[in-house]
Amino acid sequence: MSNNMLQPMFDLVWDSGVIFLKWLFDGWIVEKKDLNKFFKSAGLKNRNEEYPEVRKQMGDKYLVNIPVSLNLDDFKRYQNALEIYLQNKINMSLSGNFIMIEPRYELKELIKYKIPKKTSDSIKFPIGESENKTMVLDLKENPHSYIVGTTGSGKSVMTKVILTSIVSLYKVAELELYLCDLKMVELNLFRNIEHTKKFVYTVEDTTQVIADLLEETKKRYDLFMQNEVTNIFEYNKLPGVRRLKYQVLYVEEIVLLLEDKKKSAMKLLKQLIAISRASGLYVFLTTQRPDNTVIDNVVKANINNRIVLKCEDSKNSVVALDQEGAENLKGNGHGFLKNGSNIEEFQGYFIEDEKVKEYTNKFKKVENAEIKVKSIGMKNKATKTNEEIKEDLSNNIEDLSFLDNL
Ligand SMILES: Nc1ncnc2c1ncn2[C@@H]1O[C@H](COP(=O)(O)OP(=O)(O)O)[C@@H](O)[C@H]1O
Ligand SMILES: [Mg+2]
Repeated sequence: MSNNMLQPMFDLVWDSGVIFLKWLFDGWIVEKKDLNKFFKSAGLKNRNEEYPEVRKQMGDKYLVNIPVSLNLDDFKRYQNALEIYLQNKINMSLSGNFIMIEPRYELKELIKYKIPKKTSDSIKFPIGESENKTMVLDLKENPHSYIVGTTGSGKSVMTKVILTSIVSLYKVAELELYLCDLKMVELNLFRNIEHTKKFVYTVEDTTQVIADLLEETKKRYDLFMQNEVTNIFEYNKLPGVRRLKYQVLYVEEIVLLLEDKKKSAMKLLKQLIAISRASGLYVFLTTQRPDNTVIDNVVKANINNRIVLKCEDSKNSVVALDQEGAENLKGNGHGFLKNGSNIEEFQGYFIEDEKVKEYTNKFKKVENAEIKVKSIGMKNKATKTNEEIKEDLSNNIEDLSFLDNL
């Protein structure tokens, strides 16, 4: 046989060997080398000619060391080129002393809201989904929240998702709502819901609601002290006590509180969020203008669920999120949730007004309380006020045993 005839056979054996070796190392060595090769070809180095190196690879995530004097921004300059090279959208972030490079999955654009299931051990509910998990607000863990974003970012939809979940999961006997709708449209859908104890829309009335809740919170702490407990969950487990309700204060557009001539609304609100960690009061604030006069350090220090939707510019993003980036979100419920130092990108659930009405219809205030009273065979209705009748109704109908598990 001539050499020419042997060549194809030789090539075949050689190629099979290479494929076998690639398979054997499961792409590990090859891909690791490739990223290092990319840094060299791209010229990503410091003045000492030191290039980044892959230190660890977990699937398609890479941990890369940072040569002295380089930073995340130096890496980000090559993001586009690296995406072309890896044929994947990527995220680069700091992870300890390393740069983490990982694939970026596109979030779904629209995720329809469904009523969540109640978990017995806390006061929490989901608001949307990240790349790989459900984003949950856990109010027992982090009692207070703000929702920030420019017009069209999805604040109103998020508000409807939150309030629909709250009224669906917690009974009138367990939870009451204090709605301050300074924009006079947004919270209207929840105005006639049984849980709604107060619905106000002027700055003056909002100030009064906040002042009353502050008083109530102080009273609760006195009660806790007398009973040698430190929070609502322990208190409600004590035998023979009248269980305290969770209270949710929702203030739509806190910027409007700055219109208070006496300047007391914002001051009282700050006091309230500062002291009410354990009393069972959960505050939600929304704003479209996250500047330092609205979200100052006091607000930030006491609000640990930060829902940041698309912001007008990077300055607003820094105020709301402590970093830039929210200005690049897509709008329509695309956001970041920041708890402590943890930030996660997510897509908020979508709900239409019609659905809100459908879900909350059964919680509409009783028009004619007497009919319902008769139907459950209660007496003495003539001597009771409407409020008392409703209280009775909820106390009779609702099963409070879940509180024992808290
Ligand atoms: N979670 C979401 N998923 C998909 N689309 C959304 C979502 N939230 C908002 N949108 C879209 O954006 C529009 C504006 O949302 P909205 O909540 O009214 O914004 P904002 O109150 O911040 O001005 C909505 O009418 C809807 O079309
Ligand atoms: Mg709105």
